[in-house]
Amino acid sequence: MITGGLSGFGFAAAEWLYREGVRHFVLLSRSGRPDEKTQASIDDMIRNGAEVLLRAVDVTDFQRLNQVFTDVAASDLPPLKGVIHSANLYADAPLMEMQQEAFLKVVDTKVEGAWNLHLASRPMDLDYFILFSSISSWVGNPGQANYCAGNAFLDSLSAYRRQQGLPSLTLNWGALAEVGFLASHQEVNDHLQRIGIQSMDPRRALESLPMLNGFQQMNLCMAEVDWPTWASFHETGASPKFSKLVQTSNASEGSGKPPLIEELEQLEDPQARQLRLREQILEVVAGVLGVGSTDQIDLHRGLTEMGMDSMLAMELRQRLQEAYACKLQATAMFMYPNVEKLVGLFRDQLLQGMFDSQEVVQELGEEDLDDMSEEDLEGALARELAELRESEQ
Ligand SMILES: NC(=O)c1ccc[n+]([C@@H]2O[C@H](COP(=O)([O-])OP(=O)(O)OC[C@H]3O[C@@H](n4cnc5c(N)ncnc54)[C@H](OP(=O)(O)O)[C@@H]3O)[C@@H](O)[C@H]2O)c1
Repeated sequence: MITGGLSGFGFAAAEWLYREGVRHFVLLSRSGRPDEKTQASIDDMIRNGAEVLLRAVDVTDFQRLNQVFTDVAASDLPPLKGVIHSANLYADAPLMEMQQEAFLKVVDTKVEGAWNLHLASRPMDLDYFILFSSISSWVGNPGQANYCAGNAFLDSLSAYRRQQGLPSLTLNWGALAEVGFLASHQEVNDHLQRIGIQSMDPRRALESLPMLNGFQQMNLCMAEVDWPTWASFHETGASPKFSKLVQTSNASEGSGKPPLIEELEQLEDPQARQLRLREQILEVVAGVLGVGSTDQIDLHRGLTEMGMDSMLAMELRQRLQEAYACKLQATAMFMYPNVEKLVGLFRDQLLQGMFDSQEVVQELGEEDLDDMSEEDLEGALARELAELRESEQ
């Protein structure tokens, strides 16, 4: 029996079990209706001797779920031997913006669903009770507090069941290519790759399951992660918990100034230096937003309006930190919400030593002044006034 078994990784698991010789399936989802491609694959399985029962059931509804177990027990199918809980929903949002409804619907599918399966299957003599969880409950993932919390429950449920002498294994998968959410959200896939979480081939991932039979653990994480890259994007990466995985390369430390800073230093003309800083930041922003050319970015338009969600904001912060070897506050992307404001932050605060010459303002022609935001003009005027005052004293 596979919950969420009519799509995504749940159905990939059904296909893998079929290849392994399993011939009796109960596949559950709320709709109970597979899409065309999945139906064709089910038809193939049936043609080749498999028995496939499809049921529309919401796993958070204990009565209905329990009824499915009763129906299966009363049917011609052989006794139920294994359950895989793959039912899942996503409703990502930064924690402070996450509505209760979005939080609960994700958590309930994982928590209530798993608990109901635990209760309903207790009378059965199962060989396997497998919960599909995610690496995110081990390492966290910004914007997925609900998903991480729901999966963390699955991690503990296996411990509880094992204590009771019941079979249970929670598998914390890394990103999976081609199935489920990532298959239809290439931009999320690209982002995960950039922050060190590589997507795995779901077939390969499933094919390595039999070797897990030899393991006694209740939780296993199977993921492809570039740990140093991952740690550079996540403050939790500095935790001793990950020290064995994150082997920070000393070679890259103290190897000199970042190239972008060197490039700025080589420009003697202060105006050119400021213009280059703006271009550099535009290039970093364009890279994170995935737009082909910096011309497509309006300097004064909110980054959020241009598609920068909390996940990408985290990535932008990290890229800027690396590019300029600096530390940015976690809220920096919200406090400096467009490119021009970010340029101002670097020019006036973080790289101040490089831009403290008043020449920058004096040498900007009228055309450049037209291009400046109100805040930049205010800053420029403030600097001029300060200089005038100094010269009067
Ligand atoms: N995809 C990945 O990269 C990835 C990575 C790590 C872990 N995982 C884990 O692998 C599992 C499958 O992920 P996926 O991305 O393939 O998911 P998915 O494409 O979103 O498929 C899950 C299915 O669950 C069904 N479902 C949702 N709520 C339900 C409920 N209350 N009762 C019954 N069925 C319900 C949905 O069908 P209906 O709408 O018809 O109900 C949906 O098609 C999840 O447990 C996930 O945490 C996936």
